[in-house]
Amino acid sequence: MEKVMPDFKNQIERLTEIGIALSAELHLEALLEKIVRYARELSQADAGTLYLLLDGKLHFKILQNDTLQIFQGGAGAQPITFEPVLLEKNNVSAFAAIEGKTIVIGDVYECAEFDFSGPRRYDAITGYRTRSMLVVPMKNHEGAVIGVLQLINALEPETKNIIPFDADAVRLTEALASQAAIAVSNASLIKETKDLFNGLVKVLAMTIDARSHATRKHIQRVATLNILLARAINEKKDGPFAGVNFSEKEMEAISIAGWLHDVGKITTPNWLVEKKSKLERPFDLIELIRERFAFIREQLSAAGCCKQENPQTNAQTDAAIKNLEDDLQFLCECNKPCEQMDEAALERLRGIARKTYIENGKPRPYLNEEELRALSVRRGNLTPEEIGVMRQHALWTKKILAEMPFKGHLKNVPMYAGQHHERLNGTGYPDGLAAADIPLPSRILAVADVFEALTAKDRSYKKETNLMEVFALLRRAAQNGELDSDVVELLIEDKVFERLDDV
Ligand SMILES: [Fe+2]
Ligand SMILES: [Fe+2]
Repeated sequence: MEKVMPDFKNQIERLTEIGIALSAELHLEALLEKIVRYARELSQADAGTLYLLLDGKLHFKILQNDTLQIFQGGAGAQPITFEPVLLEKNNVSAFAAIEGKTIVIGDVYECAEFDFSGPRRYDAITGYRTRSMLVVPMKNHEGAVIGVLQLINALEPETKNIIPFDADAVRLTEALASQAAIAVSNASLIKETKDLFNGLVKVLAMTIDARSHATRKHIQRVATLNILLARAINEKKDGPFAGVNFSEKEMEAISIAGWLHDVGKITTPNWLVEKKSKLERPFDLIELIRERFAFIREQLSAAGCCKQENPQTNAQTDAAIKNLEDDLQFLCECNKPCEQMDEAALERLRGIARKTYIENGKPRPYLNEEELRALSVRRGNLTPEEIGVMRQHALWTKKILAEMPFKGHLKNVPMYAGQHHERLNGTGYPDGLAAADIPLPSRILAVADVFEALTAKDRSYKKETNLMEVFALLRRAAQNGELDSDVVELLIEDKVFERLDDV
């Protein structure tokens, strides 16, 4: 029975429309799905399979069957678990790929040319009957086969009886296949470039994370929490984020900004990143002080020796040495990072610094100005200058990313990343921006960054008390107008941070 094809001219018009639709689809998985759908539409096929030729094998990418209502592969659909087809000529799809030729079969059960045990087995399991078949190689602009389109069971439009694929169906499918192959090549190229870029971004983040043991995985965790927060915002149907819905493209920009937010740390000196004591720069100056104190001790002992007959002087020398040792001990304590150094400790420090000893005939202070300044740091272990250098990483993030050609939907990546230390009340850096100039993605990143920093110390935030403290600190920062309170509440109330545990 001759298949009744709809008007061929209409089909050509449809083919043109399809060609345009295919070239507009840049998402590879969605594109593959569309190719099979359109090919089935043009050829009136009940079922279709698309394979891509990768590593010398045909990989199942899309499987559609109307009768069985099976739709596998593609964007968001069930994955396909079939093993790839080897390039052996007894397989009809492999043959089409090897020879670059179209194969048309009236009834596969009567065809002895190829091994159809696979389809037969499939039919036995599903109750389907594979009959007519059209196998078309997909050739790109260079004539290279990049995949195979296999259509099964052409249906007579009125009766839905299975009929052979006719000459029109073959021609239309071949035309579609070549358009499809070019679209697939383009989409693959875009995907490969994107994957490569994302891979590079992650490698860069991992490299920076690896520089410091203290901040290990900081960027990875911030990037993850950042995207988790953005997703949580998208899921919100009420409250302050009811009207916010980041598109897929915006999510991509948000994600990349998260991964690149601390890229400026590449310029921070390693000794500063790793700095453990107040006098470390990059070697610990406390060692020089120790040597100096040993020298002073010798002077004191020598002075005592000269007057050994006098027991009183002897006792004075012992006391002076004891004092010196106490002072050194105290300086070693001061050298450690601290929560809050009190006034009495500072006063004692200044007192030690004022003491002098004789070197080359000249009096010298126990501590020079730089040492005194470093040891006088009241909180942590960084001097104001060092804090300034650390903070420069945000400026460097801005500068570095400004050099990268972020275009289109990624154009805001440098802004989001460069603003992660800006605060809504204008106290942030590098630019001290006001709230109106800080968009939501930058605010999300800032909250993710602070949360990670607060919980990074021992990763013990799972303990309820520690977590409560972190919440209190975040809420205080929101109240002070530093962090966005809606984002902070979302993080806390929706327990978004719990999904971070796998990182
Ligand atoms: Fe930072
Ligand atoms: Fe950070």
